[in-house]
Amino acid sequence: MSYSVKEIIKQRRSVRTFDERPLSEEDMNALREYISATDTPFSVPVTFGLLGAKEYGLSSPVIVGANTYLAAKAERLPNHEFALGYAFEKACIYAWSKGIGTVMLAASLNRAAFERAMDVGEGEVMPVASPVGYPAKRMSVRESVMRKGLKADRRLPFDKLFFDGSFERGLKEENAGVFAPALEAVRWAPSAGNRQPWRVVTDGERAHFYKAGSLPKSALGDIQKVDIGIALMHFEAALSEEGISGRFEFSDAAPAAPEGVSYTVTFVRE
Ligand SMILES: Cc1cc2nc3c(=O)[nH]c(=O)nc-3n(C[C@H](O)[C@H](O)[C@H](O)COP(=O)(O)O)c2cc1C
Repeated sequence: MSYSVKEIIKQRRSVRTFDERPLSEEDMNALREYISATDTPFSVPVTFGLLGAKEYGLSSPVIVGANTYLAAKAERLPNHEFALGYAFEKACIYAWSKGIGTVMLAASLNRAAFERAMDVGEGEVMPVASPVGYPAKRMSVRESVMRKGLKADRRLPFDKLFFDGSFERGLKEENAGVFAPALEAVRWAPSAGNRQPWRVVTDGERAHFYKAGSLPKSALGDIQKVDIGIALMHFEAALSEEGISGRFEFSDAAPAAPEGVSYTVTFVRE
């Protein structure tokens, strides 16, 4: 990779105001090539589409000045939400490395038109789509008001999200050892409504990921599992830049979780 994922994660923000310029042919081709090769650790294929807004009648009440959207669908197989969040975020980070802004949209879109454009069949789901384009110099008033409402420039403190051995002990960044930069990359992940549902309990070798709280169930499945998939991607990519690799597995030895928090998946160092 010719760019630092950790740097991009630090600088990245959702972009909802674009400058109307279509993507250059070079950027469009690069993005198209990238999404055709995106892999996930969950053995669930994710299918992307790069869609012209005019051609398919795609729109979003929160987006200004975008004329192309990226959408993704997957079969409703076990872990499809993790796979989709992981793959979609990878594409968004790649886009940012090319100066292309994105924002995942689960709610703010004319969903029926997107699903038609993606040819979403029975047994498939398209949880999110995102505009892709060049960020405008100034945000729309609506976007700045939204960001304030979402507290989008803020995240919960490190030791409220991450724990040392058990949920009893909050983990301070200075005590997080080799996992510190990767956990910081999780902390700055985007999440639906900026709810930051990820929690991690670690012992330095393993990082057990949990999901806190839940949104009302919908036909889209659990959108917060998409948030977890995004966090897994940030974690793995940031660690990989530190020269550390590992694998995801489902563990039955994960520490017990408090009420309202559920175990999802474990990263094991190799
Ligand atoms: C799964 C998911 C769904 C989202 N859905 C919407 C949406 O429907 N409308 C919207 O304006 N933003 C949506 N967002 C963007 C979040 O509000 C945004 O990521 C969060 O407020 C943090 O801001 P940041 O991305 O600028 O750091 C979504 C983000 C994620 C990860």
